[in-house]
Order: sequence, then structure tokens, then C-alpha cells
Amino acid sequence: MFLIILLLYLGKICNVSTMYNENEWDGYSVGFLSDCPGSDKEAIITNKTLKDLTFTIQNHKGDNIFNTRRKYNYYQMKDLAQDPNLDFNKPTFVFVSGYLDTTDFYITSNIAKVYEDIGYNVLMLDTNKFTTMVYPRAVRFMRPVGKHTAEMLAELTQLGLDPKKLEIAGLSLGAQTASYIGKNYQLIVGTKISRITGLDPAGPCFRNLGPEDRIDKNDADFVDILSTNIDGLGMAAPAGHVNIYANGGEYQPGEFIWMLCTSFCSHIRAYFLWITALSYPDSFIAIQCDSVQQARNRQCYDRQPMVTNVLGLKSNRSREGIFYLNTDHKHPYYMGVKGLQKQYDFVLSQMKAMNMEKVIKM
Ligand SMILES: *[C@@H]1O[C@H](CO)[C@@H](O)[C@H](O)[C@H]1NC(C)=O
Ligand SMILES: *[C@@H]1O[C@H](CO)[C@@H](O)[C@H](O)[C@H]1NC(C)=O
Repeated sequence: MFLIILLLYLGKICNVSTMYNENEWDGYSVGFLSDCPGSDKEAIITNKTLKDLTFTIQNHKGDNIFNTRRKYNYYQMKDLAQDPNLDFNKPTFVFVSGYLDTTDFYITSNIAKVYEDIGYNVLMLDTNKFTTMVYPRAVRFMRPVGKHTAEMLAELTQLGLDPKKLEIAGLSLGAQTASYIGKNYQLIVGTKISRITGLDPAGPCFRNLGPEDRIDKNDADFVDILSTNIDGLGMAAPAGHVNIYANGGEYQPGEFIWMLCTSFCSHIRAYFLWITALSYPDSFIAIQCDSVQQARNRQCYDRQPMVTNVLGLKSNRSREGIFYLNTDHKHPYYMGVKGLQKQYDFVLSQMKAMNMEKVIKM
């Protein structure tokens, strides 16, 4: 009798322990600051304030980059089209600055230089005037910012800019702004921009919105998304054509193993991975998954047949889907073909290595 009770008891414990990973037991992440009531209410940028919406043209030839970069506001697109550093035969890259950012800071200046070096015209959109405020209000201003920037690009299109040679990228809030630019450009010009790249597109205030209100595959001919902090500052939905979840997309390994890479660190990793992928276009190889959950769980290695795609400008546009990208914890991050094997999964192998011994004693 005692034995039966014991067996029943053990059975119950086992039942419980198999439940630990199920959503009925511990629910699922609702994400950081997912809903921002009222952030879709109207926001207006007046004709006067449009002077503060500017494109800066990248030109790194001088020693001091600030001396040689020219800035053009909303009303100066004709002048911009005449700028000696612009050649509409080349592809054009627009980088959209993010929350509290400006084109003079590191993130925009640095990516501008990289794109310039690989042969692009580079326009840096400065949204600083419209993001220097509490975040949910900045979100609200990104809709008119997107609309007016699309008007600027539409004017440039009349002056020779080819939308099929136009690529836009943004980090975080900048990625959602890029989406609004893409949506409005289509409405005005009647054709799509060639590419929009979302670097961990902002989840706060956007995560629970539909495709009309956040980044989506219909925003450009090709939309690729790199996710690095999906439940925190990024968003989880595979909203693009190619959706790459670095190390499962939730958190990134810390630069120093013993130091955790929490939300902000993981979020901006998307930018550093992308910048590096511009220089090593074949080296960030991602593995296709069946679902975002599979990517989160690092379970895509055994999927047959293995389908891969690369992060960066050489990404195969016809291989759409959800991809898992295994990376190293420090620059230059890429793992090459080694990264396709589960045994080299950086996070899995590091975690295992930390508790290799059968017994530890102190
Ligand atoms: C703002 O400018 C546009 C065109 O430049 C003009 O059509 C519109 O009437 C102006 N709005 C106001 C309120 O002045
Ligand atoms: C891109 O992917 C498609 C579909 O898998 C494939 O047929 C094609 O060969 C790929 N292109 C390149 C350049 O690898």
C-alpha cells in the first residue's frame, strides 16, 4: 500500500516536472512595454518644423567628417539632387536614425561610412527633433516623419533617384520609421522601394500592432529582419521575407562571457552584426527553422533538408522564412560553415562547458 502511494506520488511529481516548459504552466512572454495606448492618435508636423527633418549626405573624403557632410532639409530636395557626392547611377542607401539618436553620433556615422565604402550614395535621415521626448510620444511622431520622408524621396525620384536602387535600414525605432517611409512611398509613387532592412525593429509600442502599423514584408520589394532581443526592445514576429534570429533572437552572448548581455546590449548587437556582415557577406550563415519557437529553442540544426541563407547584402531573396543564426560572442561574430553544427553552437557549448565536472566542491 505504501509503495503504491509512493509510486502515485512520484508519478505526480514527474507529471509536474514535464509541465515546466509548457505555456499552461508558466505562460508566455508579453514583452517589454508592448502596448502604448494612444500612440496611434494623430501627430502633426507643421510646415515650419519640417525644416528640422533633414538628410545628411555622407562624404568621408575630408579629415573631419563634419566639415564635408552637407545637410538638406525637407524643402531642399532640388539642391540635394545636385550635390556633387550624389550619383543616381549608384545604389542609394538611407539610414534612419533611432530613438534619441542623431546623424552625428557613432551609430549613423559609422554605418554611413561602411555603405559609402562599398559604393552607395548614403543619405542619413535625422529624426532627432522628433525623437527627443518620452518614447511613446516619439513613436507617435514617427508616422508623420515616415510620411514626410517619403515625400522627400518621392521628390528625389522625380529628380532621378531609382526606387529599385533604393535601400533603407534602421535600428530599433528607426526600423519602424523605415516601414512608415516604405508604406507612404508606395502610396505616393505607386511602386515599392527595393529593400528595407530592420535591425531588431522596436517592439515597445509596436509588438501588438498589425502589419499596417509596423514593419511588414509589403513595405518594400524585399524586407529582411535581424532579431536580437525579441521580448525586450525588439519584436518577435517574423514580419519580413527573410527573418534571422541571432542566437534564437531573445538575448545575445556577452562580449565577456561572465558579463550578461541584457536587453540594451542584445538589442544593439543587431547593428554590430549587420555592420560586420557588410564586410563578411558570406560568413554569417543562418539555418532555416519551422517556427520562431524552434529558433528560440535552438532546435533548427536537425531540420531536414538543411536550408541556409546569409545575413547581409548577399541574402537570397527567394529563400524566405525564419532562420536561426549562431554567432560568436565577440567581433567579428561570424562562425562560417562551422556555425551550422549544433556542437559549435556558441551559447549551448559555453553553457555546457561551465558545468562539465561531475561534482564540484569548495
Ligand atoms: C504647408 O505647405 C504646403 C505645401 O508646401 C501647403 O500646401 C499648405 O497649405 C501649407 N500648410 C499651412 C498650414 O500653411
Ligand atoms: C536562391 O534560392 C533559390 C531557392 O532555394 C535557389 O534556387 C537559387 O539558386 C538561390 N540563388 C543563389 C544565388 O544561391
